[in-house]
This record gives sequence, C-alpha cells and structure tokens, in this order.
Amino acid sequence: MQDKVVVVVGATGGIGSAVAQKLANSGASLVLAARDSNRLDSLASQLSTDSSEEHKAIAIPTNIINPQEVESLMEKASSHLGKIDVLVNAAGSGILKQWNKIEPSDLDAMLDLNLKGSFYTSQAAANVMKGQKSGHICNVIGILGKHSMAMGSVYCAAKFGVAGFSKCMADELRRYGIKMTLFYFGGVNTSFWDNVSLKVDRGKMLSLETAADAIMFAMNAYPQAILMEINIQPESHLFF
Ligand SMILES: NC(=O)c1ccc[n+]([C@@H]2O[C@H](COP(=O)([O-])OP(=O)(O)OC[C@H]3O[C@@H](n4cnc5c(N)ncnc54)[C@H](OP(=O)(O)O)[C@@H]3O)[C@@H](O)[C@H]2O)c1
Repeated sequence: MQDKVVVVVGATGGIGSAVAQKLANSGASLVLAARDSNRLDSLASQLSTDSSEEHKAIAIPTNIINPQEVESLMEKASSHLGKIDVLVNAAGSGILKQWNKIEPSDLDAMLDLNLKGSFYTSQAAANVMKGQKSGHICNVIGILGKHSMAMGSVYCAAKFGVAGFSKCMADELRRYGIKMTLFYFGGVNTSFWDNVSLKVDRGKMLSLETAADAIMFAMNAYPQAILMEINIQPESHLFF
C-alpha cells in the first residue's frame, strides 16, 4: 500500500485501528477519523512514529452523523494528501434488543450512525474518487447486513440498508473506476460488545487479526479483480 492514501473512519475502534496499524506498516498514508479527538491524536502520533515518516497519519475528528463534517473530512483528506485511494468505513455501534423493547431513540441512533453515516462517508469519498477516476470503498457491514438474528431488528434494519445502498452505488461507480467491497464479518472481539446487552462468548469470536487481514487482502487485490463481498464467520456461529 506504499504511496496510497487511505481514509479510515472509525479509526479508533477495534477493527479500524487494527486496519490502520497494518496500513501504516505497509507504507500507506492515513487519514484517521472518529469523534474522540484525544484518542485519534494519540493513534495518529503512534502510527506516525511506527512508520518513521512525518505526517504519515493525520487525525481529523469527525462525527459522521453530520453530512457537513463528512464533506469537510474528505475535502481535508484530499487537499492535505492529494487524493483518496481507499475509504475504510469501520464506524458504528450496536443496539441488540427484543422488538418490543426498542425505543424510537434506538431506531434513530442505528439509522443515523450505521446507515446514514455510512452513506454520507461513501458518498463524500466517491465524489473525490470520481474526479480521480479511481478508488476503492470498503464498507465493514457485518453479517447482520445479510442474515437476520433474534434481537437484531433495529441493527439489521440499518445494516441491510448499508448493503442495499452499497450494491447500488457499486453499479453506479464502476464507470468511474471505483470499486466497492462489502465485508460481512460475524462477531469480532472488540469493544463494540461492551455496551451490548446480549450474552455472547467473546472468546469464540473472530480475532481483529482475521478482520484486518481480510480488509488488507481486498485492498491488495489485482487491479482488474473486484472483490465484491467477503463473508467470514466464526466456527461457533455460522450463517449460510
Ligand atoms: N465487532 C463486531 O462483532 C462486528 C462485526 C461485524 C461488523 N461490525 C461493524 O464494524 C464496524 C466497526 O466495529 P468495531 O467492532 O470496530 O467497533 P468499535 O470497536 O466499537 O469501534 C467503533 C468506532 O466507530 C467510531 N464511531 C462511533 N460513532 C461515531 C460517529 N458518530 N462518528 C464517527 N465515528 C464514530 C468510534 O469512535 P468514537 O466513539 O470516538 O467516535 C470507534 O472508532 C461497525 O460498523 C460494526 O457494526 C462489527
């Protein structure tokens, strides 16, 4: 990934930071986005030090539920680093509850962040990539964007939506040389699960290494190969 510019949204999260670390090691320049500016700054300085080149990773605090902030993120990324080769969309959170316990605020939270936030970031990055006539959008959706699960109604509503718009955009963006890869991971052991009120065995989930390697694999595919979907499940919880 030498000389590539990658925007990682949700960079301080489990999956985002694991990918950012691998990208820094592989020579990419990084734009790191999430809301917490302190965590973002310390990640940026750690990755810049690791890669031993100045300004290798820059932090741009962004709340992706706000389309103006997302526009500004992509504008700053392309003006500071000249282009955006890849967007990794790895921001999100989970509300997994029984159907009759779901409040309107839960629905708003899932749709605003997981669905609309992913749309704004994909759209704003694609606008930059369209001018370049190249680019790659990696949307980390999760298996609940493809399969249903009890307690998953409001989360699945958002994630099925991400899969839907991503596939439509992939069709529209192909003519500009922009690829889209959809990642359907089963449970990955991250702090995502800290606030989820569902009994889960985190020891049996996919590792961060597995998730990050899959994203790196898609980014490093031959230019003429389009990896449309990557579906990885832990052995303990399979969906076919
Ligand atoms: N963990 C799993 O089992 C799993 C499996 C499949 C798919 N996924 C999906 O993968 C993505 C990443 O999950 P993860 O496990 O890495 O989660 P995580 O460790 O909880 O990280 C979430 C990241 O999203 C950022 N974020 C949250 N709200 C945001 C907002 N409004 N604007 C910008 N950034 C925001 C967080 O930073 P701030 O709080 O500082 O903003 C953090 O960097 C999510 O979309 C999730 O649904 C997760």
